[in-house]
Amino acid sequence: MKNLYEEAKNCFLTADPDEKLALSLEISGAWESDLLEWRESDSLIHEPLQLNQPGRQDKPLLVDVAKVKNRGFKSEQQRASLIHALAHIELTAVNLAWDSVYRYRHLPKEYYDDWIQTGKEESQHFILLRQSLRDMGYDYGDFPAHNELWQMAVNTADDLMARMAIVHRVLEARALDVVPFSLSKFRDIGDSKTADALVIIANDEIGHVNSGARWFRYRCEQEQVDPDKMFFTLIQKYLKSTPKGPFNREARMKAGFSLVEMQELERLDAEYKQDRKKRSHK
Ligand SMILES: [Fe+2]
Ligand SMILES: [Fe+2]
Repeated sequence: MKNLYEEAKNCFLTADPDEKLALSLEISGAWESDLLEWRESDSLIHEPLQLNQPGRQDKPLLVDVAKVKNRGFKSEQQRASLIHALAHIELTAVNLAWDSVYRYRHLPKEYYDDWIQTGKEESQHFILLRQSLRDMGYDYGDFPAHNELWQMAVNTADDLMARMAIVHRVLEARALDVVPFSLSKFRDIGDSKTADALVIIANDEIGHVNSGARWFRYRCEQEQVDPDKMFFTLIQKYLKSTPKGPFNREARMKAGFSLVEMQELERLDAEYKQDRKKRSHK
């Protein structure tokens, strides 16, 4: 019988995106059919290796987040660049899901169910967006990309609670606010294929953020800390600034945000905007 952690590690380290995705879908299929051993037996008592770099090809070129620009809807090239950015996030999310399966051990089966399901869906998202790019005469690797999401995965690697809070409930949760907006822009300009892909993505991302919330709260309960307070403590620790609105409250509530968290996010955003206004009047 194949072993879940070994398979997750192989997928994470595979460089070719097509091979990585084929493996990702194969592992999730095997898991769903109960064909993988996953309980840590005597033969698996060694600690997981600290794998901080996923397998990747030379392209896309990784650049600083400030250097990634010229994305939008004004030209075909700008639109392709935007889809490329989304595809890069999806591929990073595939690595992230398998990393979370491989790295964190001794958790309930539902934890692995959640992140394997996420790995499968992120793979499907990448395939859809890459198809849109190819239809436009481009491909994955044709534009530079930034690595902010993966860097945060590395920063939070030693702490499951922080990984769930910051990577999933802050960075991935941003998709809940912005994807519905991008979706209608793609629809307006007649790119219904990308718009349809984004409908699927917007819906699936609610589930991923919800998994983040579930395992964040699980850890908070184990450590007997208040999740509503801890979320903001971790934001302060890991991020330079608080998350910016406008927030899609409905989608976020479906994705496991508490009312207290939403109210605090909205209060901090209003406070930030107020400060900015005051500064600009000086
Ligand atoms: Fe996704
Ligand atoms: Fe996701």
